[in-house]
Parts: sequence; structure tokens; C-alpha cells
Amino acid sequence: MIPDNLIAILRQSPRVTVLTGAGISAESGVPTFRDAQTGLWANYRPEELATPEAFQRNPKLVWDWYLWRRQLVEQAKPNLGHIALKKMVTLFPYFALITQNVDGLHQQAGSEDVIELHGNIRRTKCFAAAHIVADVLDPHLAHCPICESQIRPDVVWFGEMLPREPLVQAFHVSQECDVFLSIGTSALVQPAASLPLEAVQEGAILVEVNLAPTPLSQTADFVLQGPAGTILPDLVAQLT
Ligand code: OAD
Repeated sequence: MIPDNLIAILRQSPRVTVLTGAGISAESGVPTFRDAQTGLWANYRPEELATPEAFQRNPKLVWDWYLWRRQLVEQAKPNLGHIALKKMVTLFPYFALITQNVDGLHQQAGSEDVIELHGNIRRTKCFAAAHIVADVLDPHLAHCPICESQIRPDVVWFGEMLPREPLVQAFHVSQECDVFLSIGTSALVQPAASLPLEAVQEGAILVEVNLAPTPLSQTADFVLQGPAGTILPDLVAQLT
């Protein structure tokens, strides 16, 4: 059940910013980042594979891991949480959706202008100049048609800078909002974890939707504990 006073606050808040993490896709069957890796990747940690060094050392291994994750993501469907967030854009004059996820499920649910902080696993870019490379048949062999450099998944790796434009946008919509919703993220990884704090610093109301407490919970004005796939449709239903 969503607290009545939160519904009242949202009804009079024109600017709402949402940050999602892996938890919003958990109910679509996409493992969260800190879930144990399953199957043949069980004995690898993301930190060992999602780095430029790992790719330089063994591009085939890293590409095989991403091709495995791509087919996981391609089998996944947006869940009721993604769909509720897509509907939310009609409820507020200024609505911004920032995601740390690389699965593209928000866009599949129909959300537009998604601010992708960590890239998108479905996209491929080149190493040298981040040219987006489409229609790659075998990424192990292909090279960038523009600059001939190696190609890689268009995702942010550990130790890499985030893409500048989405980051600038994310800070802007976090500092300008009336209500900030942090959904399905452990609120551990920077710079994304700073966004809700920026919002609070500018006077926004902070709402957290998560299965479990996080370091952000004690700062939140509202902590809605439970699955995003249940809580978000309830929230939208009570607002419409
Ligand atoms: P995590 O795996 O760290 O956290 C997932 C969060 O979702 C946890 O707090 C869970 O309690 C919560 N959760 C799980 N199922 C849920 C559900 N059904 N409804 C609501 N919440 C649920 O994933 P992230 O916080 O997204 O960065 O991780 C942030 C970043 O850390 C990732 O983007 C990745 C990693 O380093 C890069 O790849 C650059």
C-alpha cells in the first residue's frame, strides 16, 4: 500500500526523476549485478570481465560473456515495473528516467529519452573512437568500418569514465526535481549513487523502492519495501 501522504505529495509535484538499477529488471529474469553469476560463468566475477584490461588480455572471453548476457537480455521481457514507469511519464509535466542498467528493457517497455548512464549491452562501439557499429555478425573478428579499431560492447566497464552527455543530463534532472525515486539499486556505485543525494540537497523528496534496505534508506523520506513489479503499478494506479 502506498502511503496517502506520498500520493498527495506526488499529485502536487510537477517534476519527478527516477533512477533505476538492476532490481527493476530482476522480475524479468535478468540477474542483478550482485547476484551470483550462474551457469558457465559462475566462477567469474563481473569485476574480472567488465574491464578494459580483461578485454585487452582476452577479447574472446569478454565477448563470449557479453554474447551470453545479450542472449539472456534478448529473452527477457519488460515487467510490470518497467511498464508502470512508462505510464508515469503521462502523470507529470517533467518526468526523467535515468538507468544504470544496460539491458534496454525500459526502451522495450516504451519509455523514451532514457538516460543510460552505463551504456547499452545491445549496442556495439569501437574501442578507439566510440563509433557505434551496427549489424555485426561475428564480433570476435569484426573491426570498426570507420577507423578499423577493435569493437566492444557499448557499456561502461569498471574503472572507465561514464559517457559525458548522459551524466550531465542525469545530474541536471536530479538537481531540478521535486521528487526523486531510487528504484532497485543498491546505491553503492558512483557516480550514480550521488544522484539521489544531489536531489535531496536541492530540497527534493526522496523515495526508495527496494526489496531490502540500502545505504540510501536512512536518507529517504519514504522507503517502499517490496518488488518494484508490484509497488510501481500500485503507485501509478493510485495516481491515476
Ligand atoms: P545491484 O545488484 O548492486 O543491486 C540491485 C538492487 O536491486 C539490490 O538493492 C536489490 O535489493 C534490489 N532488488 C532486487 N530485486 C528487486 C525487485 N524485484 N524490486 C526492487 N528491488 C529489487 O545492482 P545495481 O544497484 O544496479 O555498473 O548496480 C549498480 C551498478 O553496479 C551496475 O550498473 C554496474 C555495477 O558495477 C556498471 O556496470 C558500470
